[in-house]
Amino acid sequence: MMTRASDGPPTAPRLIAVASGKGGVGKTWLAITLAHALARAGRRVLLFDGDLGLANVDIQLGLLPGPDLSAVVSGAMGIGEAIRACEPGGFDILPGRSGSGALASLPAAMLERVLDGLGALGARYEAVLLDLGAGLDRGTRRLTAASDTLLVVATEEPASLTDAYAVLKVNAADGGSTDARVVVNQATSRAAGERTYATLARACRQFLGAAPALAGVVRQDAKVREAIRRQCLLLTRHPGAAAGEDVEAMAPALLQPAPAEVAFSPPLG
Ligand SMILES: Nc1ncnc2c1ncn2[C@@H]1O[C@H](COP(=O)(O)OP(=O)(O)OP(=O)(O)O)[C@@H](O)[C@H]1O
Ligand SMILES: [Mg+2]
Repeated sequence: MMTRASDGPPTAPRLIAVASGKGGVGKTWLAITLAHALARAGRRVLLFDGDLGLANVDIQLGLLPGPDLSAVVSGAMGIGEAIRACEPGGFDILPGRSGSGALASLPAAMLERVLDGLGALGARYEAVLLDLGAGLDRGTRRLTAASDTLLVVATEEPASLTDAYAVLKVNAADGGSTDARVVVNQATSRAAGERTYATLARACRQFLGAAPALAGVVRQDAKVREAIRRQCLLLTRHPGAAAGEDVEAMAPALLQPAPAEVAFSPPLG
């Protein structure tokens, strides 16, 4: 955990990991759009592409090649130097390394260096949004466990629910954050999204003994695909789009720690 709520103001940004288990559910798009929504609300945000295997924040945003996480990992530069501004978005980015599998097998010590580097950003940011890769490899598990808030993205597809459940279970087993929240993305309606959340929460309660909170439902919206294809930010390209509205509605609460009564703390063993 990087922030300490109990002893005064946080000395490190709030680390919010966006995970899913299943690929292609919308993690990267959601992380980008949340960063944008928070920046528009005046918050200082860093978007960290933690998809260590196949980075794609840079592809969705059409970033030009430049310094990225691999320079940090090789020791060529500090995290602060590798960060750049996403000017149209008003937030900062630490890009991953596009199309390279090399970082997926990052030695544990190097991963710790990256996490220490994020913690050392101090008061520069209020939040770091961490876009994680699909799957549950060692690096992804470590980054998940280090987060202050774990945002698990699911869709209405059964396979995505199973994988979201697996992420929550592994996070609990790894002693990760008790502030775990679910986003149902690409929902056919708000009500359908809420039913999907209820299904997942029920399984968690039954088999893990605790359920995560609902961070929000994001509706399926053809404008998302269109904006990604054009490498544009949804909130500026399509103001008032349903999916954008949903992301803006859920963003502010992410900077607040979850109240104790909704802590996701499954009894272990
Ligand atoms: N709310 C939405 N409405 C419609 N389409 C969406 C929505 N969210 C995401 N998508 C679609 O899902 C696709 C996958 O999104 P994205 O690349 O962000 O997923 P991901 O979970 O990061 O994938 P990966 O696991 O491969 O990293 C996007 O190209 C977009 O077309
Ligand atoms: Mg992605």
